[in-house]
Amino acid sequence: MDFKIGVIRGDGIGPEIVGEAVKVLDAAAERFGHKFSYDEILLGGSSIDVHGVPVTDEALAAAKACDAVLMGSIGGDAATSPWYKLEPSKRPEAGLLKMRKALNLFANLRPAYLYNELKAACPVKEEVIGPEGFDMIIVRELTGGLYFGERHTGEVDGVMTAVDTLTYNEEEIRRIALKAFDIAMKRRKKVTSVDKANVLDSSRLWRKVVEDVAKAYPEVTLEHMLVDNCAMQLVNNPSQFDVILTENMFGDILSDEASMITGSIGMLSSASLNDTKFGLYEPSHGSAPDIAGKGIANPLATILSAAMMLRYSLDLDREADAIEGAVKRALEEGYRTVDIAGKGEKTSGTTEIGDIIAGFVRG
Ligand code: IPM
Ligand code: MG
Repeated sequence: MDFKIGVIRGDGIGPEIVGEAVKVLDAAAERFGHKFSYDEILLGGSSIDVHGVPVTDEALAAAKACDAVLMGSIGGDAATSPWYKLEPSKRPEAGLLKMRKALNLFANLRPAYLYNELKAACPVKEEVIGPEGFDMIIVRELTGGLYFGERHTGEVDGVMTAVDTLTYNEEEIRRIALKAFDIAMKRRKKVTSVDKANVLDSSRLWRKVVEDVAKAYPEVTLEHMLVDNCAMQLVNNPSQFDVILTENMFGDILSDEASMITGSIGMLSSASLNDTKFGLYEPSHGSAPDIAGKGIANPLATILSAAMMLRYSLDLDREADAIEGAVKRALEEGYRTVDIAGKGEKTSGTTEIGDIIAGFVRG
């Protein structure tokens, strides 16, 4: 079959890791007889450099016209990059937020699981993880809350004051809750809804709506957890979690924390979906400007994001299995980028890992 895939290489290590994911996608296309055509889309710093803005209307339209979009990472070092001298609405991150909103990508799925082969890289003690292992997914609301509220900075009574607002309505909560429960039905049937209902009105509404949605899923166990407690529980007893359902900012923070339990944020893929088959797929990690251009970045999260894209947006399950299997095999055979290598273990560069996995996919 023919598919049109949008490709956002992005900033920092983005172009390096996306290059490897495209290599692996091409290997899958070759093996299974598909044709992937790629539409290059600029977002973030690379768009600022060319167009002066982090995303153009043309880029949004181009993304919309694709079957799905694969992205690397955007942004630079805030202390040194000229992009951060611009006003906040013109910086790289604003482009990504605008794209998420314009494409209505309200559901952000961030799986986190511990590969057997990477147990040594996990900073949590083996006895804390327990025999069940660690395999969870964070379902993060992505187009509402604090990141999309009105904001302004100004003087109030002669004192510089900044205001950010956090708003959720019941429809926004309901649609993300439905996603989380649907996903839980295909997993271990447990949803932990995370909020700050002891303080925030938006969290109290969140709880009410989530409880209402839960009624349609009698097989799923629902528990509520306060976000500060959840941050603690993630390192204290991580295996208790199956699906974490949460709002935008809490999900941003908790997903970085959860990812570290897997040994490296360099392993984790993510999908941002709307209510159609369309999705934007990107690694959970950032653009790591400190290691950009060195050829040592871990491309696995992006390669696994490409596999997720095949599964969720293009309905190519066999092809996704082939990529995920190839990643597992590469780990089993001891291939490691520096971020996931144990002491004294041999390491491979970004392109070497991509070549190995593409080779395994070809069979
Ligand atoms: C993420 C990132 C973004 C977010 C930034 C770059 C705006 O941290 O995808 O987690 O906060 O959503
Ligand atoms: Mg983040």
